[in-house]
Amino acid sequence: MRNPPLFPAFVSQHSVNFDKDAPDLGAQFPGIALPESLGRAVPKRKAEFLAGRFCVREVLRRLAPEHAEIPVGTGKNREPLWPDGFVGAITHTLDFASVAIARARDAHGIGLDAERVMTDDNAERLLDKIASPQEIAQMKRKTGWGTGVALTVTFSAKESVFKCLYPQVQRYFDFSDAWIEILDGERFSARLLSTLTPSLTAGRTFEGRFEHDAVSVCTGMVVTPST
Ligand SMILES: CC(C)(COP(=O)(O)OP(=O)(O)OC[C@H]1O[C@@H](n2cnc3c(N)ncnc32)[C@H](O)[C@@H]1OP(=O)(O)O)[C@@H](O)C(=O)NCCC(=O)NCCS
Repeated sequence: MRNPPLFPAFVSQHSVNFDKDAPDLGAQFPGIALPESLGRAVPKRKAEFLAGRFCVREVLRRLAPEHAEIPVGTGKNREPLWPDGFVGAITHTLDFASVAIARARDAHGIGLDAERVMTDDNAERLLDKIASPQEIAQMKRKTGWGTGVALTVTFSAKESVFKCLYPQVQRYFDFSDAWIEILDGERFSARLLSTLTPSLTAGRTFEGRFEHDAVSVCTGMVVTPST
């Protein structure tokens, strides 16, 4: 299936559609094992995990075949434990999973996130948890989007920021720690509002890419050694 066009060429990506209600999940993703910790998880969680790890294996088969058959584990804050020398990100929605991986010499971190577009009503209810009213107002003014699309893009961009910077920050940080602006039809900026580490200081700004249609949003971001 087509990868959302979010990354430079040194990032390898693989995406799949899957059926979370399929009776035999394993048949969709042969050779991918569920960790013991997910043995009693609900079928949706099992399906999304398998879909994500299937994409990981497909990318590693191309990028680093020697690592492809070794399961990528999960760290203390649920982060994927990439093979030494690699960074990456995993995302999944109800029926879509995607993974992006790069060599650590090319990227310090990768963010990737996919979301279903929220309704305007849901977005109004969730707004305070994800963004400031001014952040969403400026985005709606600039793009002409409704609240649902604006908040979904903002939410997804912040999730990408979190996954991308987590390897450096190594702890949870919040939606209020970044401010998202749309730069043009493909690019967003993410400005840190808090200092997260001695080098990730308040005011630092990163650039990411997004794609959206009426039902889905996908965002991606890469921090390179020269960013
Ligand atoms: C971790 C989080 C970003 C995951 O996003 P999500 O929309 O719930 O789910 P997605 O399907 O897009 O991504 C799930 C994958 O993210 C990855 N992930 C989870 N925690 C992670 C972390 N700490 N660092 C990097 N990646 C992480 C995992 O690979 C996970 O899939 P898996 O459990 O099957 O391996 C989200 O649950 C969260 O905690 N957000 C709050 C923190 C935040 O976004 N702050 C905003 C800062 S500006």
